[in-house]
Amino acid sequence: MKYYITTPIYYPSGKPHIGHCYTNIVSDTIARWHKLLGDDVFLQTGTDEHGQKIERVAEKEGITPKQFVDKLVPEFKKLAKLYSMEYDNFLRTTDKKHEKYCQEVLQKVYDNGDIYKGKYEGWYCVDCETYYNEKDLEDGCCPIHKRKVEWFEEESYFFKMSKYAKKVEKYIKDNNYIIPKQRQTFLLKRMKDGIKDLCISREKVKWGIPLPFDKKHVAYVWFDALLNYPSGVDKTKYWPAAAHVTSHDIMWHHSVIWLSMLYAAGIKPPKKLVVHGFINAEGGVKMSKSIGNVIDPFELAKTYPTDSIRYFLLREIPFGHDGTFSINALNQRHNNELMNDLGNLQSRTITMIEKYFNGKIPRTNKNELFKKLNFKKINNHMLNYELHNALNEIWKFINECNKYINDNKPWELAKNNTKKLEIILYNLAESLRVISILIEPFMPNTAKTIKQQLGLKKKETFKDIKFGLLGNNKVKKSGYLFTKIEGEKKMNKETQVISTPEAGHYIPFKEWEKMQIRVGKVKKAEKHPDADKLYVLLVDMGKGENPRQIVSGLKDDYKLKDLVGKKIVVFTNLQPTKIRGIESNGMLLAAEFKKKVSLLQPDQDIETGAKIC
Ligand code: ME8
Ligand code: MG
Repeated sequence: MKYYITTPIYYPSGKPHIGHCYTNIVSDTIARWHKLLGDDVFLQTGTDEHGQKIERVAEKEGITPKQFVDKLVPEFKKLAKLYSMEYDNFLRTTDKKHEKYCQEVLQKVYDNGDIYKGKYEGWYCVDCETYYNEKDLEDGCCPIHKRKVEWFEEESYFFKMSKYAKKVEKYIKDNNYIIPKQRQTFLLKRMKDGIKDLCISREKVKWGIPLPFDKKHVAYVWFDALLNYPSGVDKTKYWPAAAHVTSHDIMWHHSVIWLSMLYAAGIKPPKKLVVHGFINAEGGVKMSKSIGNVIDPFELAKTYPTDSIRYFLLREIPFGHDGTFSINALNQRHNNELMNDLGNLQSRTITMIEKYFNGKIPRTNKNELFKKLNFKKINNHMLNYELHNALNEIWKFINECNKYINDNKPWELAKNNTKKLEIILYNLAESLRVISILIEPFMPNTAKTIKQQLGLKKKETFKDIKFGLLGNNKVKKSGYLFTKIEGEKKMNKETQVISTPEAGHYIPFKEWEKMQIRVGKVKKAEKHPDADKLYVLLVDMGKGENPRQIVSGLKDDYKLKDLVGKKIVVFTNLQPTKIRGIESNGMLLAAEFKKKVSLLQPDQDIETGAKIC
């Protein structure tokens, strides 16, 4: 199957940041997954180089827009490479081929009678190069960038977008075009406000592609940019695209504007728009240069292996939701899931094969572990673009393998039961081989190291997820997959990552019903042994139940002794986790305002254990 996947083409108006990096990682992981499924994949990324935004930043620096973008584009390429993104084409909208294609489409739409001359009067946000209706503004600011929009009036060409509204709406609905579903619901609701014709030319802006039918005007930068998707590929082979990956800031452009343009130009619409969430800075606030909370992916890669960052972003943020970037959460996942779970499995297996069998993997036919692996389920998660769930399932298998070691204690078998020892180590080696295939899309470098250590040379795909393929390979330990990162030294903050549903991202009622929230009573409160700002609480949950241990960041706002005896509200069916090495089984509900935390508390006469409904 052909599988053409794209990232947005980014504005090279500044250095790329973690958000761009996240989109690249998501797209690369999906692309690699499809390659392993045997699809003919093409991944395109690039830069969106025209328009007023670029024109202005260049002017500030006193250089031409072209000189400006030529300086920044290499940074975007460097970023992709640094994070192991395997793209097939990097498109620049200043490429001659793209400019020509864009003009051809404009001419075609013009000839079809879908472009007319008029006068634009309205608001414009230069940061997102987007027109806004008065009612969509927030205090006169762009709802995305929160900066003042500008009024402009000029003679312009308009594209008859309104004409296609019905058709676009139908396509979106019939094909479930937007993933996840909640985003689609939000967009369709916004479409109900009405679709106006779109201003597609600018006379005052000089940095753009001239309209072929009126050279005094340049094309509106979004009209130019969206066309990158077909313009960069062999259309007979890869069009229509299987998936455009973006975040929700540009969902409107990729559905309403893009689909109308394609209908007008007689080009087939893409199959899916895959919308991921926004990464916010600590505290859930938008990253912004002026606040100084922007995460620089180049800096980050100096401390963390890029595979760890890829893993962290994909596992931590439920796909489609917004998430908060927290160094502590990154540390924890790196140290616990990568170094402990995966790293130890690898290191123990290889070390034991070296120690007990001179490095030669023993062979048996007895398949003991594969029944714990549910590839179909993992694959379904990936095909539904639930990358975090896929990783979760893979990690279940990794932990089954670790449990298999602990249960079978090969070091004891080594004393008297070589037959059994052979079975255990062969099963472990085979499982590691399969794990290396499964994690390759997420962590290509780690996968490669595992393969090398197992003495595997040939490239494997999902077809090789079956038992018994390892021959008598020789293993070779070459260092650890991951080494411990001491986060405290780097950043002394105790934040947790919370996904915040933003406007339009509703939780269906049946999801809410799954949550169990109850009244608990604090029995005991102690300091966390390894973290400055955390407490470890023992919370009584009522008769017939063991008290629960919950780790919580209350240190700045509550004294230990004041907590004991308090009735609080506890989210009880949250998956237990370790926070700084201490098991935490549940979450306290608290409000946060101006960095002060306040516990939610029911009236004191309510019974401990009572359900919140
Ligand atoms: O909009 N979190 O370019 P852009 C997650 N040139 N993703 C983020 C992010 C964040 N904080 N910030 C940015 C443009 N992104 C146009 C696109 S396409 C025909 C033209 C990612 O440089 C996310 O994918 O502003 C978002 O949609 C995109 O970068 C916007 O990049
Ligand atoms: Mg933007």
